[in-house]
Amino acid sequence: TLEEYGLSDNGFLPSEFPVSKLSDEYYKDWETIVENIPSLLLSKKMREVVDRLPVLDVKDSLVGDVRQVRRAYSVLCFIANAYVWGYDKPCDTLPDCIAKPLLTVSDILGLPPLATYASVVLWNYKPIVANSELVDDLLDLSNLTSINTFTGGMDETWFYLVSVMTEKIGAPCVTSGLKAIQAVRADDLEGAISELKCIAEAIDNLGSVLMKMEAMCDPHIFFFRIRPYLAGWQNMAEVGLPKGVKYGSEGDYLSFAGGSNAQSSLLQALDIVLGIEHFPTGKKGSGARTISANSDQNSFINEMRKYMPREHREFLGHLAKVSNIKDYVETKKDKELTLAYDACIAMLKSFRDKHIQIVTRYIILQAHKKDASSQSKVLRSGLSKSQGQKEQRGTGGTALIPFLKQCRDETGSSAASDW
Ligand code: HEM
Ligand code: ALA
Repeated sequence: TLEEYGLSDNGFLPSEFPVSKLSDEYYKDWETIVENIPSLLLSKKMREVVDRLPVLDVKDSLVGDVRQVRRAYSVLCFIANAYVWGYDKPCDTLPDCIAKPLLTVSDILGLPPLATYASVVLWNYKPIVANSELVDDLLDLSNLTSINTFTGGMDETWFYLVSVMTEKIGAPCVTSGLKAIQAVRADDLEGAISELKCIAEAIDNLGSVLMKMEAMCDPHIFFFRIRPYLAGWQNMAEVGLPKGVKYGSEGDYLSFAGGSNAQSSLLQALDIVLGIEHFPTGKKGSGARTISANSDQNSFINEMRKYMPREHREFLGHLAKVSNIKDYVETKKDKELTLAYDACIAMLKSFRDKHIQIVTRYIILQAHKKDASSQSKVLRSGLSKSQGQKEQRGTGGTALIPFLKQCRDETGSSAASDW
């Protein structure tokens, strides 16, 4: 059942609202710090204050309550990223008071110990009005806010909330996807068609939610103020973290990719349900109809599964085993079924198209502005031109546009009319 895999009626979002404060007073210093991250960053007091914290235990009573463990994870991830990235120069060592409990809770949840999609999106929202008698839909975008942010600004809140909404709006994709798989098993053609139609409609709605990003998240603020805190510590030698970050005074250097929506299980679930395959950037698949060995698959997309909560990762693994829709569409050769399947593909391709537009506005154009201003500095200071320019990477570490365009094209070429 869905619950066994940590899913709910809201898809990959938890069934109840995340806890917005650890209930045990013992952890109050963590809560005070996380609540004050924006001012601690502004005053450059983050490290000083964190360094004075005692090393707290991850108590059994915390471990026994998954909602509390998720909250602890989210709190410690926010503090960790703020600690590392909160000053002009990143710090390559997390103090024991953060590193130790963070490693413990990450391990419990099967997540990496730094800010991820799970810490800033999935478990970081709360209702503005919590009384269901006053509000029709507690989970409506207009009634949500985030629990914590790095910057304290609404652009950051909006950035996270739009993702919360995509998860919610996308939830029918998961339920209908499972029903469609069952229908196929029972050779229930009508059932399969109607579930695929639901999926197509849900994906269409996802695209509309995505485009709401621009309503309240400004591209400049996103790129220059928010995004730096979402970075990880993998391939970060050029900014001074060649080995990643050391977890505790006696801990090891570990390196991880930064937070990215690529860590959302929803889109991966859709790819699996629809039988869409992704290959390493720059390589073509060996033909749309060949089931390729795992090693051929896009390693970044697979790698991102390690950045999802353990149960969600297991759910995707299970889904991959039972996915049967694409084969069914191919063998049935039914006109209406093919049409419904291709509608899903077209919607997903269009979602990825919109996403590329967003990435262009929020990253590529902003990076050009930055390059232009450093170019003029470079010219004034007489340094060589190349020093002003840097290859853009996503926070997850991909080459951005080539990767995203290939994902989109691989979606498009899965249309049954192309087989
Ligand atoms: C991947 C940027 C919003 C879904 C990516 C990547 C970037 C990016 C750069 C490449 C992976 C990496 O290196 O990090 C952005 C920006 C956004 C945004 C700038 C908004 C300002 C969203 C939203 C969703 C989303 C709201 C909805 C869930 C995805 C998915 C991938 C991805 C699923 C994996 C690639 C794919 O499956 O096509 N994003 N993203 N993104 N993003 Fe976004
Ligand atoms: N993955 C997004 C980026 O690269 C957040 O900016």
